[in-house]
Amino acid sequence: MVQKKSDSTLNKKRGEKYCDITPEKIDIDPFTMIIFGGSGDLSKRKLLPTLYHLCHDQNLPDEFSIIGVASTDRSDEDYRKLVGDAIKEFSRDNINNECWENFSRHLFYISGSFDDAHTYEKISRKLEQISKSAKKGTREIIYYMAVPPGFLPPIIEKLSTCKLCQGTFNTRLIIEKPFGRDRASAAELNRLLSNVFDENQVYRIDHYLGKETVQNIIFFRFANSIFEPLWNRRYIDHIQISVAESLGIENRAKFYEKAGVVRDIVQNHMMQLLALVTMEPPIGFEADYIRDEKVKVFRTMRSMDDEYIDRYTVRGQYGAGTINSQKTVSYRNEKNITPDSNTPTYFAGKFYIDNWRWAGVPFYLRTGKRLKKRITEITIHFKQPPLRLFSSTCEIREPNLLVLGVQPHEEISLHLGVKRPGVGNQLHPVNMSFSYEKDLPDNVHFPLPYERLLLDCMKGDQTLFARQDGIEAMWSVIDPIINRWDNTPAPEFPNYNAGTWGPEEANNLLIKDGRQWWLW
Ligand SMILES: NC(=O)c1ccc[n+]([C@@H]2O[C@H](COP(=O)([O-])OP(=O)(O)OC[C@H]3O[C@@H](n4cnc5c(N)ncnc54)[C@H](OP(=O)(O)O)[C@@H]3O)[C@@H](O)[C@H]2O)c1
Repeated sequence: MVQKKSDSTLNKKRGEKYCDITPEKIDIDPFTMIIFGGSGDLSKRKLLPTLYHLCHDQNLPDEFSIIGVASTDRSDEDYRKLVGDAIKEFSRDNINNECWENFSRHLFYISGSFDDAHTYEKISRKLEQISKSAKKGTREIIYYMAVPPGFLPPIIEKLSTCKLCQGTFNTRLIIEKPFGRDRASAAELNRLLSNVFDENQVYRIDHYLGKETVQNIIFFRFANSIFEPLWNRRYIDHIQISVAESLGIENRAKFYEKAGVVRDIVQNHMMQLLALVTMEPPIGFEADYIRDEKVKVFRTMRSMDDEYIDRYTVRGQYGAGTINSQKTVSYRNEKNITPDSNTPTYFAGKFYIDNWRWAGVPFYLRTGKRLKKRITEITIHFKQPPLRLFSSTCEIREPNLLVLGVQPHEEISLHLGVKRPGVGNQLHPVNMSFSYEKDLPDNVHFPLPYERLLLDCMKGDQTLFARQDGIEAMWSVIDPIINRWDNTPAPEFPNYNAGTWGPEEANNLLIKDGRQWWLW
């Protein structure tokens, strides 16, 4: 049942009537953000346009400064030009001249190498000149590590030895993924961080957690009393999580060859989605209560031995194909990839969570590049009724299915079976659905992930950032898979064509269990 326009209008009206809630007041102290790698790809694409939008939408305090740090020689004026160009290229809206004039006055640049103490002396002098005190007398400093991971150790060490994390400086540190390459390197990075920072100063960012639909998983589960009683092994047959990308590796060959699909997507984004869907209700909506529950999920995930991995995981690498009528090359023919590369671009696997709620329920996860379309969805497959009363010719295999759409369509739909009108006793599949785009009042602002996450860090809210023990527990689940794959010959790659749903073995993984992937 496709929702009629009038239902959408009703939903909007209901939202306006009952959700006439004044938007949360954001009270942010004056701050200085120092972006190590302030001229890099991430800064240009995401951070600087996001900061501009936050300023445009009047979410930033009057007093703030942003200092880019990188090795190339530039003046403040050169940097402002670089930032302006980046905003023009990557921002979601056209630049507003008046706002840009105001924003650009807050931008500064320091050139220097990350491992040179002089760079930090320059930072120290600049902070003395421009950083303003908050009401409580501290100077709020946010260090953003927009740098390749190898630079983290020297920067953290220099921030400490050059005394840029103490005295009146109240510092926070934002770190981009990847958080290590495995459990051991993640633990080493955490040890290094803990020598200089308390855990409550460290913000490990995964932009997936900033997506409204991802945050909504918790709201949907714990604000609606009708689903939680069903959210367990008694009523749920299995759960699927799919993160499908139609893009290839773009210009990230160097990164991707070292990472592969498991480190790039499974270890972080997919584990976070799985934790949000399966965690127990937290005792409050505070960062550590939620993060405690997520860690418990990772710790109760069944550990995988080699035999299990060989049977229940599937790896793939894309060949040439066609996506959206465009011909695409194979992974091995991408720029800067060697013709015999065995880096996997596709993962599918079956996981279990051995706790009271989920014992015996399989979780099927799949992700890959160059798949048929870009879509991220979680599907909750409910058990069949105990008796099949109705027509055995009915085509609906699973009448009750809940689909949580994360991207590109942010929506929730519940699939039901109703009587097909007519003389027979046949079931007909129908949907009840909610769409963020169509059903919310028009004036509801949909923040982009980085907007939400940067504001949270400025406010000091760590709820949407990964904690040290969570990171290490996620790696403990994933390490055995990476090790096994590294130590056994890859299948004959490429083993799926671009524009398909991945290797045939991934279908067999579910067929063996009498199930199938939810098809789009
Ligand atoms: N790009 C993305 O969309 C994206 C998305 C998610 C996560 N990430 C993560 O974000 C981090 C940064 O990625 P990126 O793509 O922005 O990297 P990038 O484009 O290579 O940028 C590196 C930055 O560091 C500076 N730099 C490099 N070596 C330096 C040195 N020795 N001393 C001082 N400055 C130096 C560069 O400036 P100079 O050229 O002037 O030296 C540049 O500003 C990585 O950890 C990546 O995994 C990136």
